[in-house]
Amino acid sequence: MPSDSPAGTAALSIARFEKALHDRSAFSCGFTPIDNFLKSSLSDQIKGGLVTAWVATSGDDPAVLGFYTLSAMAVRACDGLTKWRRSGVPDIPVIYVRAVAVRKDMQGRGLGTALLLDAMKRSLVITEQLGAAAIALDVLEDQHFEQRWKFYIDLGFRPLGDPDNPRRVFIPMADVRATLG
Ligand SMILES: CC(C)(COP(=O)(O)OP(=O)(O)OC[C@H]1O[C@@H](n2cnc3c(N)ncnc32)[C@H](O)[C@@H]1OP(=O)(O)O)[C@@H](O)C(=O)NCCC(=O)NCCS
Repeated sequence: MPSDSPAGTAALSIARFEKALHDRSAFSCGFTPIDNFLKSSLSDQIKGGLVTAWVATSGDDPAVLGFYTLSAMAVRACDGLTKWRRSGVPDIPVIYVRAVAVRKDMQGRGLGTALLLDAMKRSLVITEQLGAAAIALDVLEDQHFEQRWKFYIDLGFRPLGDPDNPRRVFIPMADVRATLG
């Protein structure tokens, strides 16, 4: 089992989403807008160059157990790190995780953590060829917000401090390196 695989999913792998290979039909994470995004919008967004998507599957089973997406985005230099404010540019390029989700019956077994760690590794590779100072995402708000917020803080994310979006968190690339050891 790879070191970042969750317990009980011995043959878990994370690969680029391919419409013809991966079965999204039974996916439900308990948050309908994310399920709809995966099933109805994702392919168009990939085609349009808006996101890339990465899915977790087990062995030869094509069923999607979890997924995340990556996009380019910019945040304001006046938010986030003090050094951004001194950078002399108004916007800071970051890698944005628009969605991360795990199928309901697989939640709480480490797969969400494994997906985020995979997103971090991939982001580090991306920053060898494209400037991006951090990874950012928006924590969804519903009755599970507190658990979700803790999940990201435990992984090293911190509030961006954007007054227009208090649910936006980020992790500087230097911290990503530290998190990955
Ligand atoms: C958030 C999510 C991706 C975490 O994936 P996961 O595989 O359950 O996460 P892990 O097993 O690696 O870690 C579990 C931790 O996540 C926390 N958590 C976050 N959201 C949770 C939720 N809705 N239900 C249960 N636990 C949740 C738990 O508190 C737990 O922390 P602990 O280990 O200290 O007990 C998954 O719960 C999910 O898909 N939720 C629905 C969609 C969603 O909220 N996506 C995130 C949008 S910001």
